[in-house]
Amino acid sequence: MRHAGTGRIETCRLILRQLLPQDAEMMYHNWASDPEVTRFLRWEPHKDSCETWALLTAWAELYANPDYYQWAIQEKSSGEVVGAISLVNNCLGEPQARTGWADHTGEIWEPGYCLGRAWWGRGYMTEALQAVVDYWFSETDGQWLACCHAVNNPASGAVMRKVGFVYDHDTVYHKFDGTEMPCLAYQMTRERWQEHKEKA
Ligand SMILES: CC(C)(COP(=O)(O)OP(=O)(O)OC[C@H]1O[C@@H](n2cnc3c(N)ncnc32)[C@H](O)[C@@H]1OP(=O)(O)O)[C@@H](O)C(=O)NCCC(=O)NCCS
Repeated sequence: MRHAGTGRIETCRLILRQLLPQDAEMMYHNWASDPEVTRFLRWEPHKDSCETWALLTAWAELYANPDYYQWAIQEKSSGEVVGAISLVNNCLGEPQARTGWADHTGEIWEPGYCLGRAWWGRGYMTEALQAVVDYWFSETDGQWLACCHAVNNPASGAVMRKVGFVYDHDTVYHKFDGTEMPCLAYQMTRERWQEHKEKA
C-alpha cells in the first residue's frame, strides 16, 4: 500500500499536526485525564502528565514510519490542543474484526478520535474526521476505511454518519483491561467517499 504518514492538515477551524511531547500538559489537562472522555475508549485516564509525556515521547519515534497516522487537533482561534485523531491498522488489535469484514480484502484501517469535553458539540470532530478521511483517500491508495463505536456512544456514530460512513455490522471490541464493548461497525469505500464529496 502507498502510505502518506502524518502530514499537516488545515481545516476551517482546526490544524491537524503531529502530537508531540511538548503537548503533554495540554493533552493531560484537556482530555487524557478525564474518565468521561475515556469511557468508551480502550485506555484508562492518565494518572499524571508524566504518563502523558512518556507516551508522547514513545509515539514521537513512530512519526518516521510512513504508515503512522496520529494527529493533534489544535484549535486555530486559541492555539489549544483539544484532542487527537489517528488512523490505525486494527487487524492486530481485534483478531475477530477480520470475520466481520470478510467482504473487504486487504488491511483494516480505522480512524480513532477523542476530544476534550469542553469542546464537545461544536462540530469539531466532524470537521477533523472529514479532513482525515479526505487525506486518506487523496494521499494514499487505500480503498476503504472501517470505523467502530460503542453501542452506548451514539454521538460518535452521528459523527461517522455525517462524514458519510454507513453501518455495516455489529461487533465487539475490548478495552485494554479485557472488558467487552458491544460496538457498531461502519465503513466507507473510495467510491462512497467520492459520491459523498460530490453531494456536499
Ligand atoms: C464522540 C465525540 C468525538 C464527538 O465529538 P464532537 O466534536 O462533540 O462531535 P460533533 O459536534 O462533530 O458532532 C456530534 C454529533 O453527535 C450528536 N450527538 C451528540 N450527543 C448525541 C447522543 N447522545 N445521541 C445521538 N447523537 C448525539 C450531535 O447532535 C452532533 O450531531 P449534529 O451536529 O447533527 O447535531 C466526542 O464526544 C468525544 O471525543 N467523546 C469521547 C471520546 C470518544 O467517545 N471517542 C469516540 C470513540 S469511537
